[in-house]
Order: sequence, then structure tokens, then C-alpha cells
Amino acid sequence: MSTTTPEITATDTRLDVEAIRRDFPILHQQVHGHPLVYLDSAATTQKPQCVIDAVVRYYREHNSNVHRGVHWLSEQATEDYEQARRTVQRFLGAADTREIVFVRGCTEAINLVAHSWGRSNLQAGDEILVSHMEHHSNIVPWQLLCEQTGAVLKVAPIDDDGALIFEQFERLVGDRTRLVAMVHVSNALGTINPVERVIERARAVGAKVLLDGAQATAHLKIDVQALGCDFYCLSGHKLYGPTGIGVLYGRRDLFEAMPPYQGGGDMIKSVSFEKTTWNDLPYKFEAGTPNIAGPIGLAEAIRYVEAIGLDRIAAHERDLLQYGTKLLEAVDGLRLIGTAPSKAGVLGFVLDDVHAHDVGTILDRQGVAIRTGHHCAQPVMERFGIPATARASLGVYNRREDLDVLAEALREVIDVFR
Ligand code: ALA
Repeated sequence: MSTTTPEITATDTRLDVEAIRRDFPILHQQVHGHPLVYLDSAATTQKPQCVIDAVVRYYREHNSNVHRGVHWLSEQATEDYEQARRTVQRFLGAADTREIVFVRGCTEAINLVAHSWGRSNLQAGDEILVSHMEHHSNIVPWQLLCEQTGAVLKVAPIDDDGALIFEQFERLVGDRTRLVAMVHVSNALGTINPVERVIERARAVGAKVLLDGAQATAHLKIDVQALGCDFYCLSGHKLYGPTGIGVLYGRRDLFEAMPPYQGGGDMIKSVSFEKTTWNDLPYKFEAGTPNIAGPIGLAEAIRYVEAIGLDRIAAHERDLLQYGTKLLEAVDGLRLIGTAPSKAGVLGFVLDDVHAHDVGTILDRQGVAIRTGHHCAQPVMERFGIPATARASLGVYNRREDLDVLAEALREVIDVFR
């Protein structure tokens, strides 16, 4: 089995994990009589105290509706909300705040593109290309769109390590390809896709590219202009921010040409029964009272990871991934699922004939939190001929000791079942 993760140098890993752990109050508790070992950051990351405080401060000091009031509180809330948009713009390297739309998460971001861009740009016979490692949220919206438009969904295969087979992807990109929608980092496998090459190939035929960055933004530095993608999606709760807030980045010329996704307050300039006109970007895509505390918490989370440094976080997690891979490979009967040369943050595996849910339940009794199941990526499970995996996933607060506890707990699972 290939387990090639990038080599790291000693200086890369200089990150004071114990100090970071003190920022996360939830980590310091006992579960079933054991210290909590949280290895489920791909499902959701824990929140540092500064994010919790930012959300509480907003509700305690500035809570009001945005873009609607002339009073002081509303102005404060609007300023907080728009400041958060500027923070996200900078974080993603976008050219303009009009390219940053707040949504509930990656799922809503992808649905927005499918409804708005997809329905107005695709015709019967046009092709949407995804990979075999997509999360359901980057499959089902396109299937719905195909049903509505007669477009065709194509799937680029992955190899036995869970890496995109680039030559086959290249061959699937053709004259009818209108959109390539691809995960940046796979939630089930940890694979980092070669998105620069994917974008280059798609652009050669004039296709648009949407990247699902749900699992990427907490682990890799993103620059949407350098990448040259058309759409990029992120979920706040996977970036140490609150749930219920995400971002759709879209190139301004595309956003300008796209019709609204939802109708309601704030997304209009004027409404009459004869003719309604749309608001300017990005508000055209933000109908109704938005989640206001969400962007404020997300912006604080972004400042938090930037203060640590995404490069240092990535190096720390590479070290953990390398260490954890070696430990798990040494567990009798364990098979890693997802061994691509370029990986981030995820250790998925199956263990003998033990069902993943049993693995997860026994680990939980020892205070170890992992996710088990199909991870909303059933085609990945089908590709590997398995119903489910157990998945340990990493965050900035994890230590090598957490992986030691995991490996030891897995040996106890084997003892129970043998
Ligand atoms: N998509 C999230 C995960 O992979 C929920 O667990």
C-alpha cells in the first residue's frame, strides 16, 4: 500500500498545540470516564473561545437587522456583517466583495450555482463533469439540474488509492463540457485533487469550474484568483466557525449575468406587480434576513487560523497524518481507504469484518470521537466495494497522543471481536 505523504522538516511543525488546545474549551472534558479525543473535524471542527465570544458579543451588543435600519444598532450590525465579507474576500484572495455571497454552507452554495447559473446556461446534451469522489452535495444538485435541462452528468474515475485518474478526466473533458464540479479535498478519502491542472484543462474547452472547498479551507491556503476557478464554496463550521454559514465565491461577470436564486427582501431594488428589479451584487443572492452572527463568527475563525498560519497548520497536520498512517498500518486487520500521494486531514479505514458503526461505538466508550458510515459519499464506498468506513479526521488541536489513543483503542476493538 502506498502511504506517501509529503516529507516535513522539523521547523515546519513548530506549533504550540497545547496553547492552541487551551483556546478550545470543549476539548477539556471527560467522555465515558476518559479524556475526550476529538478526531472528527471533517464532520465539524470545534470552535475556539474567540469565535464563541464574537458570536455572543454580537448578540449581546449589536444584535439588529442589517441593511434596513437607520438606527445605531443596525448600523453596527451592518458594519460587522460587511466587515466579515471583507475578511472572507481577503482570505480567499477574491478581487471584490461583490464576489462573496453568504449562504448556509457548501450545500447551499452548490445548489445556488445549479439553480441560477445551471438553469440559465445549460441545454440538453451539455455535460457536467464530476469525479467519483464527490460528496452527495456535489452530485445530487447536478442530477436535479440534468433532469430539468437534459444535460448529462459524467464521472471521472479514481484509482485504488482514491486519486483522480487524470488522463481519464482529461479525456472526458470535451466540446460539450460546460462545467467541471470537483471537490478540492475529499471528505471520505482525504485526497487533494490537482485543481490547477483540472482548471487548466476545463478552461481549454471554455468550461466553467466549481470547486467544493468544504474540506480544504481549514487545511490549505486558497487563492481563487491564482487558481482561476469560477466558483469556490466553503463551509464555516469546517473552518472553526459557526454552523449555518458558508460562502459562495463567484467571478463577478458570472454573478452579474446570473438570475437570482431566491426571491424576497433585500435582493431587490424595487418591487411592483408590473416589474421587479434586482439588487446589486452580492445582495441579489442574499434574500431575506441573513444569518448575521454566522459571518461574524466565521470572520473571527478566519482571523484565528491566519494568526496561527495556514502553512504551519498544514505542516502540523501532515506530520499527524504521516504518524497516524504508520500507526494504523500496524494495526492487525486494518485497511486504509484513501492512500493518495497527496492527502489532507483524513484517515479512513475498515477493520476486518467489524462493521464501522461497531468500531465507532466501541471507540466512543473510550472517549474517542470518529465518524463512521458512508460519509455522504456512497459512490466512494461503492468504488471500494465496502458499505462504510471508520474515519478519523484531524484538526489544528490534535496531537500525536490522540492517534496513539486511537490505535490502542482499535486493538481493543479487535480483542472484542476475535
Ligand atoms: N460532510 C461532512 C463529513 O464529511 C459532514 O463528515
